[in-house]
Amino acid sequence: INKIAVLTSGGDAPGMNAAIRAVVRSCSYYNLDCIGVYGGFQGLIEADFETLTARSVRNIINKGGTFLQSSRSIDFKTKEGRKKAHKNLTDAGVDALIVVGGDGTFTGALHFYKEFDFPVVGIPATIDNDINGTDCTLGYDTALNTVVEAIDKIRDTASSHNRLFLIEVMGREAGDIALNSGIGAGAEEILLPEEKHGIQRMMDSLEKSKKSGKTSSIIVVAEGEKSGKNIFELAEFISESHKEYDIRVSVLGHIQRGGSPSCFDRVLASKLGVGAVEALTDGATNIMVGLCHQKVVHVPLKTALKSDRELDKELRRVADITSV
Ligand code: F6P
Repeated sequence: INKIAVLTSGGDAPGMNAAIRAVVRSCSYYNLDCIGVYGGFQGLIEADFETLTARSVRNIINKGGTFLQSSRSIDFKTKEGRKKAHKNLTDAGVDALIVVGGDGTFTGALHFYKEFDFPVVGIPATIDNDINGTDCTLGYDTALNTVVEAIDKIRDTASSHNRLFLIEVMGREAGDIALNSGIGAGAEEILLPEEKHGIQRMMDSLEKSKKSGKTSSIIVVAEGEKSGKNIFELAEFISESHKEYDIRVSVLGHIQRGGSPSCFDRVLASKLGVGAVEALTDGATNIMVGLCHQKVVHVPLKTALKSDRELDKELRRVADITSV
């Protein structure tokens, strides 16, 4: 391996810049050339490349977003698009690719590897934490801190006005952000995609809260929860049988994806960035570098994409006990 390309793709996540920095500086350490690809997989198709040196990535470890830009490329989903991307990479003398992103990114990378036998390594980066085989994904810790900070602020006004707040958090089909931020911010109830009977649980909790003398409440609602109602319909549903509640809805939205990465995410990005380059120099390919018990591990991309992650029952139990 002499020349490595790095790109960020899919929804951005805090820590992506720190990961690019670690990749570029590891290349420099091992005397490898490194090029940055702008705009994710689309940049591969359009040959939007730039040579990166150790100095190109100064002062970015603390920045949110990704300076290489990101996209969800439709063209890369086609065989034609991937062919063009492969030609551009080989024309530029690149012999391996590091992709930083989530499940869509890994799916693209897997196709690319299979079609062209091109060495690829993935770094898991998504606020959703929905990648298999790693204790956590890049950006998840920062997003949790952002959510908890936002809920803390909402709690101030909820308690001043004796209100019930429904707060929607991101995470697609994963309830990790909802469950952990719900516990961290002391929510009275948490609605998760991994559980059925969300509405019934919520109504029971509200009853309990009322009986125990609570005057304000916070309910964290995962965007992927399965009640079949959106958060505004849920609020409507509660107010139909509980006129006494003064209900407000807050959708936190993309604030969860922005901001300076936490120290945890910066260190994780640095570990995984170094790990990704070393994986390639050791001859590994078609893998994700993940974190397991503080150690960098290699996980086949196919395994990383498995969607059979389960709800952390112990955490759910902790949430139930502490929210009485
Ligand atoms: O995957 C990250 C994520 O922020 C999800 O939590 C959310 O459902 C989605 O991306 C939003 O995507 P977009 O930025 O395209 O609206």
